[in-house]
Amino acid sequence: MRECGLFINGEWRASSSKDTFETTNPATGEVLAKCASGNEADVAMAVDAAATSFADWKRFPAPKRGEILLRAASILRQRKKSLGEMVTKEMGKVLAEGEGDVQEAIDFLEYIAGEGRRMLGETTTSELPGKRCMTVRQPAGIVGCITPWNFPFAVPSWKLGAALIAGNTVVFKPSSLTPLCAAALVEIFQEAGIPPGVLNMVTGAAQTVGQAIVEEERIRVLSFTGGVAAGRDVYSRAAKKLKRVALELGSKNPLIVMDDADIDLALEGILFGAFGTAGQRCTATSRVLVHEKVYKEVMERLVRRTTSLKVGDPLDRGVDMGPVCGREQELRILNYIDLGVQEGARLVCGGKKLKEGDYGKGFFIEPTLFEANHGLRITKEEIFGPVLSVIKIGSYEEAIHVANDVDYGLSSSIYTRDINKAYRAIDDLDAGITYVNAPTIGAEVHLPFVGVKNTGNGAREAGSAAIEEFTEIKTVFIDYSGRLQKAQIDR
Ligand code: UN1
Repeated sequence: MRECGLFINGEWRASSSKDTFETTNPATGEVLAKCASGNEADVAMAVDAAATSFADWKRFPAPKRGEILLRAASILRQRKKSLGEMVTKEMGKVLAEGEGDVQEAIDFLEYIAGEGRRMLGETTTSELPGKRCMTVRQPAGIVGCITPWNFPFAVPSWKLGAALIAGNTVVFKPSSLTPLCAAALVEIFQEAGIPPGVLNMVTGAAQTVGQAIVEEERIRVLSFTGGVAAGRDVYSRAAKKLKRVALELGSKNPLIVMDDADIDLALEGILFGAFGTAGQRCTATSRVLVHEKVYKEVMERLVRRTTSLKVGDPLDRGVDMGPVCGREQELRILNYIDLGVQEGARLVCGGKKLKEGDYGKGFFIEPTLFEANHGLRITKEEIFGPVLSVIKIGSYEEAIHVANDVDYGLSSSIYTRDINKAYRAIDDLDAGITYVNAPTIGAEVHLPFVGVKNTGNGAREAGSAAIEEFTEIKTVFIDYSGRLQKAQIDR
């Protein structure tokens, strides 16, 4: 069986406790690898390495850091197929999406490598003669990156790529459900020429490794993607240490279908948005708000399409939806389905765990549709699974009210042929991302990825904004007058 170690100071090693955990295929239960389970001592060692390598990495020219990222992108491209398959095996999304995950990592690394030749600051005038004022960007220091399992290549690449190009050194803790993908990514950075100590990975439990990263004094910046409860905990602990924290947390993304929408197009978007990655995306469509004039038609066609989705082994190219990622995930989703029924939502189709034959070995849940009134818990809380609530709305105004009446605001979408409504929705939807005539998923990496309300704390990932999270702006005054000049006093 494959074994994965911790990666500290350029070397793969066992954890100091020698403890391990297993990573499994959620479609078959097959054990894929045995991975090192790190602890506080391992995190301290990783931070030592990150601290030692920081001085040289900071001085290493940013365009050259970019060359390393470009090499990593090119290795990812060469191995896209096999890595895509690794994503599929370890977290259960279908092959096309597994490969898409790897492609998103390639796209971002290529994009952010170019940032090495920008790293822009400002140059401006002074209130005094013979003096110039400017800002320069400097790395923030040692960065802790804690990542989820649903995009095991893309999301770590957003964080590591932006942190590294800016000259930071990194301690990386991936989800314990996808350590194999994380190890493959780190190996690629190593092959691409990242110097020892600049990137360190400690796998293991959130309660030990994650906590140690959050508490460790020398880590000045944290970038965390995960659930809201964990995010709150990270944020409050880090606040005591006055750390800078970037959070990307829950969501409850609405997709509005107006009465003038292209219904064929909207249906394609709903299915992809709600059941792509088995609904396990921060950006997944979890509520469809359908205008009453087209409600009956949309509902009938949506049920037909949903019940004909093929659920099965995601390695099979003919399959539309794979399993959910593990027992805990499955339990949580099934509990929400039960809750929906108890709350009085109408279970229109799906709703059951698939147990027959080979399904029994994995965590398969039927694509599920509820007809619900706005306000139920299933319409307001994040489920993170293949469960979609359909809500009838009577007007554009009602759609906006319902769309916004949740605690989250990551992605949103409106299907309409009315250009004025589309533009109004861009203004009116409380979300970091709005799509017009496209599903809520599939953000491109050269634009910022950000949520409002409880989705985060205003930090932006991806796009050129990603650099902001990982740099300090230093203000510089250069006096070339050759005499003492006093700002505010010499006038
Ligand atoms: C996530 O689910 O955390 O926009 C990231 C999308 C993908 C990224 C999702 N590009 O759906």
